[in-house]
Amino acid sequence: MSRHRLAAAAAGAIIVLTGATVQTFSQGTPPAGGGDELRPVSSFAGIADTQSRSLALFQEAGKVLKHPRCVNCHPAGDRPAQGDRMQPHQPVVVRGKDGHGAPGLACATCHGRANFDPARVPGDPHWHLAPISMAWEGKSLGSICNQLKDPRRNGNRDVAAILKHVLTDSLVRWAWDPGPGRTPAPGSNAEFGALLQAWADTGAHCPAP
Ligand code: HEC
Ligand code: HEC
Repeated sequence: MSRHRLAAAAAGAIIVLTGATVQTFSQGTPPAGGGDELRPVSSFAGIADTQSRSLALFQEAGKVLKHPRCVNCHPAGDRPAQGDRMQPHQPVVVRGKDGHGAPGLACATCHGRANFDPARVPGDPHWHLAPISMAWEGKSLGSICNQLKDPRRNGNRDVAAILKHVLTDSLVRWAWDPGPGRTPAPGSNAEFGALLQAWADTGAHCPAP
């Protein structure tokens, strides 16, 4: 086994543990005051091999990418998911031709321009589903990584444009301000962006799918 494979295997083990933590949260009440922490970029400085460091940074950013706040809107099927347990959206709604819902039952029928806390309805001026080519539900972190970097599937973006999107898009940023009863994505939007920037700077390596 090469050093890279060993590092990847170790990183894989970390992700399994992380998954278990998220699972625990999703089965109980969301923890007061927010979700998990993200490790700062500086804590990866000790990994001398650049590719291994890149992989470890992506695994950490993966805590966000695999979080229900993101995955619920990046489903593999036609229907969004809901809540920390990622259950199918109630009532039944479908993506429609452009992700904004079927004619007559558009997302904006219920989702307003901002979160409506009394009824726990999340909101944003352009609330809609990510296209099927950007589906993350049920995918490994390695597959999500390859897909994120693939301009044919990611909305024709290079890595710089992906970084810009995750730091500026209001749907992404909503995940850290999701309203009561929903666990925010881990860390902060800025910390997540910094991890992905450091991942890009170290060659944007993807874990094995
Ligand atoms: C008939 C009203 C209605 C329509 C139409 C509707 N939603 Fe929802 N949606 C809700 C309500 C209510 C909730 C909150 C449920 C809860 O968590 O208590 C919700 C929650 C969600 C969530 C969960 C967020 C999270 O992480 O917990 C997502 C994602 C979502 N909707 C996406 C969509 C999309 C995309 C569309 C259009 C294709 C859509 N919804 C159409 C009523 C609606
Ligand atoms: C309310 C729904 C919604 C939520 C919540 C959401 N997204 Fe998205 N996402 C979208 C839509 C719609 C697009 C397509 C927009 C475009 O291409 O301009 C998209 C596209 C993306 C892209 C572009 C490239 C690709 O291959 O996916 C990235 C990166 C992304 N989202 C990251 C995230 C992250 C990270 C989170 C959670 C922190 C998140 N999104 C939460 C709806 C959502």
